[in-house]
Amino acid sequence: MNDAELMIIASEARKNAYVPYSGFRVGAAVLAKSGKVYTGCNVESASFGATNCAERVALQKAVSEGEREFLALAVVGDAKMTMPCGICRQVISELAPEVRVLVGEEESYQVFTPASLLPHAFGPEDLL
Ligand code: THU
Repeated sequence: MNDAELMIIASEARKNAYVPYSGFRVGAAVLAKSGKVYTGCNVESASFGATNCAERVALQKAVSEGEREFLALAVVGDAKMTMPCGICRQVISELAPEVRVLVGEEESYQVFTPASLLPHAFGPEDLL
């Protein structure tokens, strides 16, 4: 599974987005070290704050299946670059601190580290 393939899977996952309020579709695909890929899309709620972003859905699906280590997370939204929101950056930095985050379109994307997206993140060690 290479980066370009993961971007295509994220773009496909976007088709399942449940977005009656924003109309803005986002898909995500996370490649675990196990080799398995988990997809996500944004799932909105009439109680807007209960909306889940595509990245968190994908990561939480993976973690709920027992995955703990990740290689790459692709994000494809309806914009040329759909950058992960602040809440997703927080969750990515905890669940997948070493992951390569791919953002853009199928044909053109940039690669980020979680630390570049959320410098000085609050993390589990801060609770001790
Ligand atoms: N959204 C995501 O799913 N991921 C992002 O990286 C940015 C925002 C969703 C949340 C909401 O359903 C819609 O995009 C508009 O904010």
